Amino acid sequence: MPKLSIKDLDLKGKTVFIRVDFNVPLTEDGKKITSDKRIRASLPTLQYALEHSAGIVLASHLGRPKGKRNPRMSLAPVAIRLSELLGRPVTIAPDCVGPETAALRPKPGEILLLENLRFHPEEEGNDPEFSHQLASLADLYVNDAFGSAHRAHASTVGVVTFLSFAAAGLLMERELEWLERAIKSPERPCVALLGGAKVSDKIEVIENLIRVVDTLLIGGAMAYTFLRAQNKPTGRSLVEEDKIQLARQLLDRAGSKLVLPQDHVVVREIKPGAAYEGVHEIGADQIAVDIGPETVEKYSGIISGAKTIIWNGPMGIFETRPFDKGTVALAKAVAESGAVSVVGGGDSEKAIKSAGVSEKITHISTGGGASLEFLAGIELPGVRALTEKPS
Ligand code: 3PG
Repeated sequence: MPKLSIKDLDLKGKTVFIRVDFNVPLTEDGKKITSDKRIRASLPTLQYALEHSAGIVLASHLGRPKGKRNPRMSLAPVAIRLSELLGRPVTIAPDCVGPETAALRPKPGEILLLENLRFHPEEEGNDPEFSHQLASLADLYVNDAFGSAHRAHASTVGVVTFLSFAAAGLLMERELEWLERAIKSPERPCVALLGGAKVSDKIEVIENLIRVVDTLLIGGAMAYTFLRAQNKPTGRSLVEEDKIQLARQLLDRAGSKLVLPQDHVVVREIKPGAAYEGVHEIGADQIAVDIGPETVEKYSGIISGAKTIIWNGPMGIFETRPFDKGTVALAKAVAESGAVSVVGGGDSEKAIKSAGVSEKITHISTGGGASLEFLAGIELPGVRALTEKPS
């Protein structure tokens, strides 16, 4: 790890600004958290800082309030949950900058959670004056927000200009360690499993994975754009007409590395409980909604021989049962493979949960967009901004 770590800092008696990603799902009224996964993921770093006698200023965005204060996107419910998880008080600041907030500077062992950074347009605008105000709230800076590392914002990039150095938190380190290992020095064979609706969302990821992996297994609706590029019938399945030419080029470039489904689960109408069947050739009035059983078997076989597996995106219309079957079956295959497995994206994670195999996955990323950009080979601005470790 060439970047400075929180473990390299002398935290004793200091106030440390920790950028976390507490962008958690909330109920419609903004009062209750529906998943505290990201809060739990930050605990090792927070506990480390507390054990080393630091005071903590925590900063995060939540949702996309567009630069305006919005009570439904307040971090107040997060302060309550975090306090329960840590078993100590967490003070929620009235704002993330300004004299009232600055006056609440935490002493060793105390935690101050700033209000949503995105209530100020200067956060996303990476404004220097705003960055300076954030930096002035503490002595040291740690970025543990891997999920926001693809955003060049004041709290992830601008703030670093006003500090002598910027260190990675323990979650950030873990995310980078596993993702880097999977992409830069994978044990082979390295297999990627890529799904989701659109080729257009993942063009750079596909291009990069073709270079990195030994086999790229494609599923989800994006498979039908590829099948159309091979002049195969796709019926009424989702196809991106304007990406067929691009899909052709990607197929040419990938050669035998890129594997497409050979059978499909099809329906005439997408609705829960719809009649479905398995086919090799999609009929003119049919819509493909999942990979078929032969594809599940073939992909599972390839997965079982892998030493490294990278997975992003579901294999079908995962949210409508029983069209989650292919995705869940592959989640089990990944878990049973014994390979280093790195998973990103909310739906793949849900599949892993419903297959009951979370414990057997090496690393489930907390960053959706950030992990995709990483897989695309893009250097994340929030990572680039961290101080290099002295050699
Ligand atoms: C995420 O949930 O992917 C991160 O918190 C980033 O959120 P954003 O896409 O609103 O910048």
